Amino acid sequence: MTNTTPTGGSSFSPMTISDADFTRLVRFVQTNYGIDLTQKRQLITGRLSTAIKQKGYHSFGDFVNHLLQTKDNEEITLMLDKLTTNYTFFMREKEHLDYFCHNIIPDIVRRHQHDKTLAIWSAGCSSGEEPYNITMFLFDYLGPQAAHWDTRLLATDISNRAMTAAKKGVYELPDTIPGEWKRKYFTKMPGGQYQVTKAVRDNVIFQPFNLMDPIRFRRKFDVIFCRNVMIYFDQPTKDALVSRFYDATVPGGYLLISKSENLSANTPYRRLAPSTFQK
Ligand SMILES: C[S@@+](CC[C@H](N)C(=O)[O-])C[C@H]1O[C@@H](n2cnc3c(N)ncnc32)[C@H](O)[C@@H]1O
Repeated sequence: MTNTTPTGGSSFSPMTISDADFTRLVRFVQTNYGIDLTQKRQLITGRLSTAIKQKGYHSFGDFVNHLLQTKDNEEITLMLDKLTTNYTFFMREKEHLDYFCHNIIPDIVRRHQHDKTLAIWSAGCSSGEEPYNITMFLFDYLGPQAAHWDTRLLATDISNRAMTAAKKGVYELPDTIPGEWKRKYFTKMPGGQYQVTKAVRDNVIFQPFNLMDPIRFRRKFDVIFCRNVMIYFDQPTKDALVSRFYDATVPGGYLLISKSENLSANTPYRRLAPSTFQK
């Protein structure tokens, strides 16, 4: 998914937002969703103006008043869909995925020979490329043995729009996808796009989840991927989330962040490789 432009590609001229409304909206988003928009005034007006006008609001003030007073689900969904940055793609940070393939998968597969069940979480999965990509590496590694394993992974996000696209699993494929994978893990659609095969789709359990909430999943994780998500959070929010990730990881389990991020010096995790950590 590629909503990288502040205006979301619209040629419409954005509405203005007062300092007070900007501060109220930024505080609401940061407190509830962790995302730090203090330097993102243009992004807010660019991405939200058309949508809130279409919903009948005459100003940002009206929208912010309604949002803060009612915490209306529909408005929150709209706001999160517009304000989150869902940019992602297959094979993102390939050298990182190679480390996962060559070092982490063999380790967790060895540790789970008895129960043949892996617990992996893609936290901030956006439109699904990351968890599907992880699945393809797992299937490749296990080969015919995959049928005897439970490799299903959890994939979560707060953007409704991104998760809806993720569940469909339909993409324009980049050239970085190996030809063999195109044949094995994708089905070509009439319009030239590709859909991830049912077997790969069924391996990913998508669930809405706000990373600001307590982590109360049934199992602890062997691996947590949280790549290119915490870049939008301030340091205290990041530190608190990393500490929750730590508690939600099995001893010897892994946390993978992106190469543009780092953990605080006092993190309890051990650093194994760039952006790769172990409990
Ligand atoms: C840039 S994408 C990263 C996708 C993928 N992990 C990757 O590295 O390509 C960041 C995602 O984090 C999600 N996100 C941001 N804040 C979140 C929160 N508080 N809880 C859950 N997801 C969040 C956004 O909706 C967005 O889809």
